[in-house]
Amino acid sequence: MAVDVKVICCIGAGYVGGPTMAVIADKCPHIEVNVVDLNKNRIDLWNNSDLSKLPIFEPGLKEVIKRCRGRNLHFSSLIEENIKRADMIFISVNTPIKTKGIGAGKASDLKWVEASARQISKFAKKETIVVEKSTLPVRTADTIQQILKESELNNKNKKFSVLSNPEFLAEGNAIKDLENPDRVLIGGVDEESINALKKIYLNWVDEEKILTTNLWSSELSKLVANAFLAQRISSINSISALCETTGADIKEVSLAIGMDSRLGSKFLAAGPGFGGSCFKKDILNLVYISEYYGLKEVASYWEQVVAINSWQNKRISKIILAKLFGTLAKKKIGILGFSFKANTNDTRESPAIRICKDLIEEGGSLYIYDPRVSLEQIESDLGLKNNYQGNLTGDLGNWSYCKKIIDTFEGADAVLVLTEWDQFKDLNWENLSKLMRHPSWVFDTRGIVDTVEAKSCGLNVWQVGNGE
Ligand code: NAD
Ligand code: UGA
Repeated sequence: MAVDVKVICCIGAGYVGGPTMAVIADKCPHIEVNVVDLNKNRIDLWNNSDLSKLPIFEPGLKEVIKRCRGRNLHFSSLIEENIKRADMIFISVNTPIKTKGIGAGKASDLKWVEASARQISKFAKKETIVVEKSTLPVRTADTIQQILKESELNNKNKKFSVLSNPEFLAEGNAIKDLENPDRVLIGGVDEESINALKKIYLNWVDEEKILTTNLWSSELSKLVANAFLAQRISSINSISALCETTGADIKEVSLAIGMDSRLGSKFLAAGPGFGGSCFKKDILNLVYISEYYGLKEVASYWEQVVAINSWQNKRISKIILAKLFGTLAKKKIGILGFSFKANTNDTRESPAIRICKDLIEEGGSLYIYDPRVSLEQIESDLGLKNNYQGNLTGDLGNWSYCKKIIDTFEGADAVLVLTEWDQFKDLNWENLSKLMRHPSWVFDTRGIVDTVEAKSCGLNVWQVGNGE
């Protein structure tokens, strides 16, 4: 299908659709890029003249939006109009885990993808390339093609070609990843459509980094890439527990194994467990697909990566409880960081949610600080209002939102580092220790605290994977 792409439409203005389309618009000023979403509030935020109000925080995003928005990049709720005009349509909608019905808790809920395919089928008027940008179970392109086929049969001006082009960006580094990707993966059948998408990327990506495969390899590679990355984190976290009991130090172990070029040094930092919207759901999806095809051993192998992750969260809550004499009632714990990693305001599946819920359940009073996560978001994640009344009476756990780091230390029995934000790396332990109630603890789940310095200021320190 020979399509000269002049107008792009992206369905879904989320963490992927927004930044990805912004970078395409930036690198291809000759192409009009329209990002549409059902969520009017989200579109309004993307269009807000105050760039600090964009719905997503990503380093470098504001600058790209400033250059392109209103020029060749537009955010809109007009889905029908923008689908009609598009030569190429990206589907970049959410694909969470099903919460009920067959496959609940494991299979992807494809209702938003199906709805997008139906919108395209109804509103597109001409030859259109449809690109799967969302992460999808292998063979989803089959479903999309079946839905589109119907409308091709009813209108001979309409013709569709479906490509898979999964996104590998990591949050907090999205703009850099998009501008300089390790690789771009395009799966498809129709050579001309593949070349049309390739031509867009060639505006800034070297040809040798653009990999073309069949549809199913492309869809499956995305799930497998996330599964392998998450597996590395569960592997290092499992060893962190062994380090703590044997006197080894996980940072030294990571360094030693990472210098083997066959292993590589990245993704070997022990922590509170992986979070983010995708790792868990993508592995569980892989588990579901394996079970579906009768591959029980494959399914249980990958399921273990998720099991170790939940175990690591729980392990940390238990350690804190044990060190604080088995009760958190009438104790104040400062929480440093709530997002699932640094440089993002995203809290989806953040280990902070599960650990904070455990501590509140034990009666602790949490003072939570995160430089990017709002009070409303934490309330919604914890399912509990910011309800601290000013004193530590009663055994019921509660939490309070702090605008400054220092507020988390005032009178605290312990502070808990959950996200590796830069500002937590060089805290003045001497001054902060004086604000705490002694004996006091620092629990560092990210391995970023200078333990020697903190200990020299009279603090007890527990650091993940540090068995000294
Ligand atoms: P998101 O929830 O932030 O955004 C999805 C958007 O799609 C929402 O704003 C929603 O309102 C909109 N939407 C849903 N159905 C629609 C419809 N029919 N018409 C118009 N708009 C619709 O999700 P996300 O984090 O951007 O993820 C999108 C996909 O990309 C998922 O499959 C995810 O697995 C994958 N992915 C995410 C990341 C990441 O870092 N978040 C990275 C790579 C891949
Ligand atoms: C991850 C992948 O890295 C992306 O390639 C992929 O596109 C994306 O998922 C997706 O499909 O959504 P993301 O979840 O944004 O990106 O962030 P990561 O940097 O991968 O971190 C995931 C989690 O692992 C975080 O909670 C992080 O703190 C944790 N992590 C990461 C560690 O605990 N240790 C490490 O060494 C690295």
